[in-house]
Amino acid sequence: MLTEKKHDLCHHIILIGFMGTGKSTVGQRLAEYLQAPFIDLDHEVVHRDGRTIPELFEQEGEGYFRDLESKTLMSCLQSDVPCIMSTGGGAVLRSENCEVMIQKGFVVQLTAELETIVARVAGDSNRPLLQGNASERVQQLMDARAGRYGFAHCQIATDQCDVERIINSILEAYDAYCCATKAAE
Ligand code: S3P
Repeated sequence: MLTEKKHDLCHHIILIGFMGTGKSTVGQRLAEYLQAPFIDLDHEVVHRDGRTIPELFEQEGEGYFRDLESKTLMSCLQSDVPCIMSTGGGAVLRSENCEVMIQKGFVVQLTAELETIVARVAGDSNRPLLQGNASERVQQLMDARAGRYGFAHCQIATDQCDVERIINSILEAYDAYCCATKAAE
């Protein structure tokens, strides 16, 4: 069950993590609970360009997608209205993206074991980087991205937990961050 406690949203809450760690599901539910605007970065990119992610990768290449992803991230995080944002798993690949995330918000890394991720993403045709043998691709990308997510303010494992427990953990860490930020002012 979600706690009854009142939470003042004074910073963006930004969810990062590998594909299939639950960023979109958790982000949407967290935004509903806090009655805050929700931005799913992948959806925003698709909305701005008008093509799907597989189309963008196929027609323009990954670099084009990453440029659009960075521009969209930067412009969304300029807003003074705090929001909940779920990012795509590769948004951490550019250091300038990580810098702006950590400057502008409270960054939460959602994690999951390889087996959990493979079970969640198997058969999904909307993720161009996971086409082929999903298990092998996930392992390769996890290895290649080791350490990329470590800049987050906190890490929360999503393997065994239901969404409400994950949200409670995020809010507990967020409240501690807000107290520490206020004390430092
Ligand atoms: C990607 C993750 C995807 C999407 C794109 C690339 C990645 O988002 O941005 O397919 O490089 O990890 P999700 O993490 O929401 O699946």
